[in-house]
Amino acid sequence: MDKKITRVVSGITPSGKSFHIGNYFGALKQHIELQNSIPETYYFIADLHALTTVQDLKTLENNIYNVVLDYLALGLDPEKAVFFRQSDVVEHSQLAVILGNYISYGHMKRMHAFKDKLEKGFNVDDINIGLFNYPILMAADILLYKPDAVPVGEDQRQHIEITRDIAENFNKKYGKKVFPLPEPLISKTTGKIVGTDGQRKMSKSLGNTIGIFEPEDVIKKQIMGAYTDPSRRKASDPGHLEGNTVFIYHDLLNNDKAEVEDLKQRYVQGMVGDVEVKESLIAAHKRLFRPFREQREKLAKNLDFVKVVMHQGALKAKNLAAQTLEVVNKTIGIKNKLN
Ligand code: TRP
Repeated sequence: MDKKITRVVSGITPSGKSFHIGNYFGALKQHIELQNSIPETYYFIADLHALTTVQDLKTLENNIYNVVLDYLALGLDPEKAVFFRQSDVVEHSQLAVILGNYISYGHMKRMHAFKDKLEKGFNVDDINIGLFNYPILMAADILLYKPDAVPVGEDQRQHIEITRDIAENFNKKYGKKVFPLPEPLISKTTGKIVGTDGQRKMSKSLGNTIGIFEPEDVIKKQIMGAYTDPSRRKASDPGHLEGNTVFIYHDLLNNDKAEVEDLKQRYVQGMVGDVEVKESLIAAHKRLFRPFREQREKLAKNLDFVKVVMHQGALKAKNLAAQTLEVVNKTIGIKNKLN
């Protein structure tokens, strides 16, 4: 991107999966750090989007709290980033209703999320319209804030493309550049952390994750079960580092680099056992994540504070969103005084 980025917006769907170190090092960490390098960052919990899959009141409420607490605990600073809940800013829904008129059914049918459902054997007549319309709501989420860029994972690229198409169709129709076209901001390394099976990307549904906020004994078990070097039968056999998940994780989360180097050297020489390597990984995990875990516990005991934070975020977001919606309404002839 040649233009300087001054504003980004992104959403996090509270679909109920708890964050693991793959999410953290693959996306979340960079995501949160943007609050320090970009003047205006808007992050919201996409609760309306979650309705495509979460249709139970208690579950949805729980999911929302979990994402909010995780983000705040992991360092999202509501003084730097505007952090809010999508449904608190009604303009998202209002703009979505409008934008549906500037995109064709044929285009919507080509969207991956919808096509994937069909490929999984779902009957087209049973797919809920919320899922079908998902990209339009997402376009509204984005265009309301007129961002330069949208930080997302590679899997969301098509959604940014359709957002640009909708914006372009709209601008062309009214001969006015109401919506600037946003760029996707996709980090090269995003989401490529291998799971503890050593085979596939770390993912909750594959059961190959290492948690962040899970109880310590769970994390210990996850680390102790991680794939190392199958050709090594005893600690005195020289080991391999390539594809060895335990060393991949050491590189990511152990801030004692000298310890990592020493373990690697001894490993290839057959001078250290897997257990020691894993125990020091457990210790490194504690060193890195304990402050976040403690912060999360504090926040969980202080939900009133969390509510205030979200409320203030929503007010700030609404400020900008309402301005955009007003320009849109004026442009198209909605809510105006009839002449
Ligand atoms: N669809 C996104 C995801 O699954 C979440 C999302 C909703 C989003 N609205 C957005 C991301 C707007 C960026 C901008 O990850």
